[in-house]
Amino acid sequence: MNKECLYVLLVMVLFSNCKKENFVIDNGEWADAPNRVSTIAFGSCAEEYEQQPILQMVADRNPDLFIYLGDNVYGDTEDMQVLENKYAELSQKEEFKNLALNSYILSTWDDHDYGENDAGKYYPQKEASKEVFLDFFREPKSSERRMREGIYDARIFNGDDNKKVQIILLDTRTFRDDLIRNDGMSGCKNIYCPNPSPDSTLLGEAQWTWLESQLQEDADIRIIASSIQFSHQYNGRESWTTMPREQEKFIGLLQTHQVNAVFFISGDLHLGEISKMEVDGAYPLYDITSSGITKNRIGYDEQNSRRIGNLEEANNYGWIEIDWDANPIQVTGSIININGDVSNMIVLDTDEISF
Ligand SMILES: [Fe+2]
Repeated sequence: MNKECLYVLLVMVLFSNCKKENFVIDNGEWADAPNRVSTIAFGSCAEEYEQQPILQMVADRNPDLFIYLGDNVYGDTEDMQVLENKYAELSQKEEFKNLALNSYILSTWDDHDYGENDAGKYYPQKEASKEVFLDFFREPKSSERRMREGIYDARIFNGDDNKKVQIILLDTRTFRDDLIRNDGMSGCKNIYCPNPSPDSTLLGEAQWTWLESQLQEDADIRIIASSIQFSHQYNGRESWTTMPREQEKFIGLLQTHQVNAVFFISGDLHLGEISKMEVDGAYPLYDITSSGITKNRIGYDEQNSRRIGNLEEANNYGWIEIDWDANPIQVTGSIININGDVSNMIVLDTDEISF
């Protein structure tokens, strides 16, 4: 064997030895996917080193699904060992184990568990952090989600009488172009300005194409799980309102395909609220924001002219109940705070959110 071949062989052996094992945590049994879904809880923004009584409150109510909407841990690192350690810390909490045992978990990420505050497509460890995320949430090895770029996903669950609810989990990080920072430009607030460019993307081309086909799947209710808010009033923080063209594009898809019974759930805000966006040529888009599991902002009067009902400043979770027997199907969405109080609630008839 010549020297060159020996070198190539050595590199191959080194690489195969160094190939990272999957990140596996043995923290007990997790619930399987349910055969029927009528109760769905959701939440976001949880510091892994803090106690998380909100998770125990959810576990005690035994919902069919729990949806993690991002900032599920505060990774904020390019070191994957640090990220794994933070997920491991979450996984060993009794309240997390109880939740995972009682409710089937679906998840998407936001900036902090992706890896960096307000990060988009240029975060250098996005592929490695995706593997950690999917390994932690026990995504099967053969899953399609592992084959494509990003972590977006969609699932359809049965209700009663062949009716179905679709959950669409968006990835608002992997493909997102840079935001426009507010350098004191007119019409801007806080950190970011609305980006008017048709070339800037939030979801990216592949995810948009996938989303368009998902919106044509057979379902009676569709819940869009977006880490960042969609329907609220622009406030200069990270949300769909910093990419208004992308908001319009989403609405355009609903109009083109006459997609009914869509509403959003979101996190990220460190507050809980429900927003209602009136849409010309379509139905109102509701967005139930629950944040956070440990994060909160007390005494901060966040402006939102599209808010309906109360602003929840304490730790909270979101709760959805689907009444499959009602005609039309009825969805009740609420925000429950750390004291167990229902601080905000909406009841949606699916004909109110249809063309
Ligand atoms: Fe966030």
